[in-house]
Amino acid sequence: MKPARHREFTFEPFDSGSISNYEAKFRAAEEVAALAESGQVIGAGSGSTAFLAVRAIASRVRHGELHDVRLIPTSIESELTITGLGLAQADLSEVAPDWLFDGADEVDSDGNLIKGRGGALFREKLLFSACQLRRVLIDPSKRVERLGKNFPVPVEVVPRAASVAMAGLKALGADEIALRTGSGKDGPVLTEQGNLLLDCHFESIDEDLEDQIKLIVGVLDSGLFQGYGPEVISA
Ligand code: A5P
Repeated sequence: MKPARHREFTFEPFDSGSISNYEAKFRAAEEVAALAESGQVIGAGSGSTAFLAVRAIASRVRHGELHDVRLIPTSIESELTITGLGLAQADLSEVAPDWLFDGADEVDSDGNLIKGRGGALFREKLLFSACQLRRVLIDPSKRVERLGKNFPVPVEVVPRAASVAMAGLKALGADEIALRTGSGKDGPVLTEQGNLLLDCHFESIDEDLEDQIKLIVGVLDSGLFQGYGPEVISA
């Protein structure tokens, strides 16, 4: 007889007390979890709202409402949450997702986004680019008339290229650039790719700014998601 599987490690990156606008995020998460169907492969974003959605999907699986669902994570945080809650993972290199869900820091009326407060912007964008049905979960505070109102645009750069990339970002109109630093670690935040994050304030954001930033040598990607046309779920 096989020994019973014993889960040694569970991980919940956020607790309800630390999540801003918890009720609204919770309702959006429940709404998206209700759309999951058995047998699907679903892309799972990072951050507190995505975490609540993973938890809501796990609850449906536990109650026997869903089976054979696999989630594609977008960060170590989301990977540990998925496995910690007993869900199966899938890898983007092996299978395309049926759809994805993720949170956002800002959403404008055309569905353009700023993401990356949690530093997971690269794998999140990778997932967005590999999936046609994108569901973005927000609380009402995330809606803005113009992108950049409340959040900077995070840009992930190779450390060696940081000063050259900064010059390129200034040339595109960034009037304030801050190297993101950590809590729980001295010095800069290093992304999961080993890169730096530059949080850039732009007074105005043109519709091709994401593409322009991407052309700067040393930039891996940015937290600007323009033209992806996501379905926005707001409680
Ligand atoms: C992670 O890097 C981010 O893109 C998050 O998805 C985004 O910051 C939204 O986070 P919350 O759901 O925690 O507000």
